[in-house]
Amino acid sequence: MYAKSVIESIELFHDELISIRRDIHAHPELGFQETRTSDLVARSLTALGYEVHRGVGKTGLVGVLEGRRNTSGRCIGLRADMDALPIVETGQHEYTSTSPGVMHACGHDGHTTMLLGAARYLAETRNFDGKVALIFQPAEEGLGGAQAMIDDGLFERFPCDAIYGVHNWPSLPAGVIGVCPGPAMAAADSFEIHIEGQGGHGARPNDTNDPIVIVGHLIGAFQTLVSRNTSALDSAVVTIASVRAGSLPAMNVIPKDAHLTGTVRTFSRDVQARIMQRMKEVTTGLAATFNAKISLKYHCRIPPTVNNRECAAFVSSVATELLGAENVVPDLAPTMGSEDFSLMLEKCPGTYFRIGQGGAEAGCLLHTSAFNFNDAVIPVGSAVFCRLVERSMPLM
Ligand code: NI
Repeated sequence: MYAKSVIESIELFHDELISIRRDIHAHPELGFQETRTSDLVARSLTALGYEVHRGVGKTGLVGVLEGRRNTSGRCIGLRADMDALPIVETGQHEYTSTSPGVMHACGHDGHTTMLLGAARYLAETRNFDGKVALIFQPAEEGLGGAQAMIDDGLFERFPCDAIYGVHNWPSLPAGVIGVCPGPAMAAADSFEIHIEGQGGHGARPNDTNDPIVIVGHLIGAFQTLVSRNTSALDSAVVTIASVRAGSLPAMNVIPKDAHLTGTVRTFSRDVQARIMQRMKEVTTGLAATFNAKISLKYHCRIPPTVNNRECAAFVSSVATELLGAENVVPDLAPTMGSEDFSLMLEKCPGTYFRIGQGGAEAGCLLHTSAFNFNDAVIPVGSAVFCRLVERSMPLM
């Protein structure tokens, strides 16, 4: 009964949270440009009595609040992302994006609002013994917002015992909480390859070391990085996303070079390192075989998102207490997508969980122009955040 009343308390100001969410939706900002959004967050937190620290990771900010007591010495971090995507919104509502070509197509407007809902409940009740650090992160969409906050001393200035973050998930029914213990999302790396050989006349291939033939061998060899170099019990993806060589009208010309780009997704540092190593060996070997120059640039971008198993079980327990077991998926399957909250999870134990949106069957999918966050689930997300804090640091 007690836990249920948290959702009920937050539902009392659900309408205000919906207004905030729609206001943020109407004014989306790209990574590291979230000045209006962070102003809005800072104003709300200040009014609620938080100590607000701006400029943590450029446009990021952190709000700190003590509970009714602060004797536990503990601090729980809760994180939301604030940035939008360079997409032209096609959905029509009274709060459609007012910034041409920019939209909240990943629901970060909803994430920010759910954390503001938790901020208000926590400030009004302070039913915990310790501190909370509310982390409003900029630039999650591939621009390095988490790293920027860490570089600005996030965990030195605001040491946390555990951190939690949430992402909406269209394929789960609305309001259902999904948790994936252990590796939950993949590391996302990218690579660029440049093959430099000898071009020439299409009728005299023997005078060349045809880079297009080398591309053919390279594509075939790269297919073995997963199928023959990675254990069947591990997961990995190697995708060649672009191949560029020659020109369409030059039908009797063998080009002198070729470029390829692609992505690698893995769930562990070991598998990632093995694929990187084999990619180097394959390209070096092919260069020797065909007497060409092959350069490989491998970029480690985002590590795998690995949920601490104890923290994951704790999220499931909190969600079950709030919503009943029928509304919790404690063993959600991992995905090959990526998320830079992973960098924070490398510094501090925690869990990244999902909140169902419903609507996937109606085409309301992440990173699409018709996406819209489901306002009905805001109190659920806020309440899970609040109970994670209250149960981690109970008032004795
Ligand atoms: Ni997102």
